[in-house]
Amino acid sequence: METRILPLNADSIAEAAQLILAGQVVAVPTETVYGLAADATSSEAVARIYEAKRRPAFNPLIVHVPDLAAAEQIGKFDDRAEALASRHWPGPLTLVVPLRAGSRIASIVTAGLPTIGLRVPEHPAIQQLLRAVGRPLAAPSANASGSISPTRAEHVLKSLDGRIPLIIDAGATERGLESTIVAATGGPLRLLRPGPIAIEAEVGSADRIEAPGQLASHYAPSKPLRTGAVDAADDEYMIGFGEITGDASLSPSGNLVEAAARLFDLLHQADASAKPRIAVAPIPEEGLGAAINDRLRRASA
Ligand code: TXA
Ligand code: MG
Repeated sequence: METRILPLNADSIAEAAQLILAGQVVAVPTETVYGLAADATSSEAVARIYEAKRRPAFNPLIVHVPDLAAAEQIGKFDDRAEALASRHWPGPLTLVVPLRAGSRIASIVTAGLPTIGLRVPEHPAIQQLLRAVGRPLAAPSANASGSISPTRAEHVLKSLDGRIPLIIDAGATERGLESTIVAATGGPLRLLRPGPIAIEAEVGSADRIEAPGQLASHYAPSKPLRTGAVDAADDEYMIGFGEITGDASLSPSGNLVEAAARLFDLLHQADASAKPRIAVAPIPEEGLGAAINDRLRRASA
């Protein structure tokens, strides 16, 4: 795939919007860092973010929306979350809030969690793109796994050349640092990631900084899970892949993008089934398979 760089203007935004509506990923500047944006309502489009980044693990992604009203259709805001949003949006603040039932966000975006990270960015490039697409955009930083966050189009190109169709170039980002993340999921507010907004004063004395990983940031099914299964015991809900069939299949054709896109939905489905255990067919340890296997290993531990 050829990666093109286009300057920010009405034409490049229209082209980016078209690509995103066709399920592709596009790099776009925000005021913090360049993001790799995909339609947050399409699990296959979001799986392509992971494929492009060669990220060996699934992390919940931040969903970008044009304004607070759009955010409130996706997440539930208590009074304190709403106060923070009103004060700092649009801007470099991400709020993790409970996910609203019936939102159309794909489960791979939240990595199966019942919470969601939402942000109203300020940069005109992503604002224009959000309005042109008319859908929420999932966007992690636009770098390959293991490289540093990109603050210029050239950084994105260096790390993702040939892996994405388009980079919108609007020069260096203003903040150069990823957004501040605050969790407002009930109980005290928690600072999950320090960032451009010094929020400590607003997060209150009873509240504290949370070490990374302290928040239950990974969904795991409640039942025992066995990986590498070629067939199922009577009490197992079998999740198939490729030629190995089961109660459901991650991808009958053995397609890893499809498998990543279906993973969290099928884990939830298996968890809700009458069977007390879960078995999952072997997944090749290549491309997105590494991220799928990482998640299955954690789920089985
Ligand atoms: O400035 C930014 O935030 C940039 C631009 C592109 O908006 N995005 C960004 O995304 O830094 P990413 O994927 O590199 O970092 C997202 C962080 C991860 O550490 C993830 O764990 C956390 O947000 N996060 C997202 N949703 C979460 C949730 N439901 N619960 C806990 N943490 C969450
Ligand atoms: Mg990142």
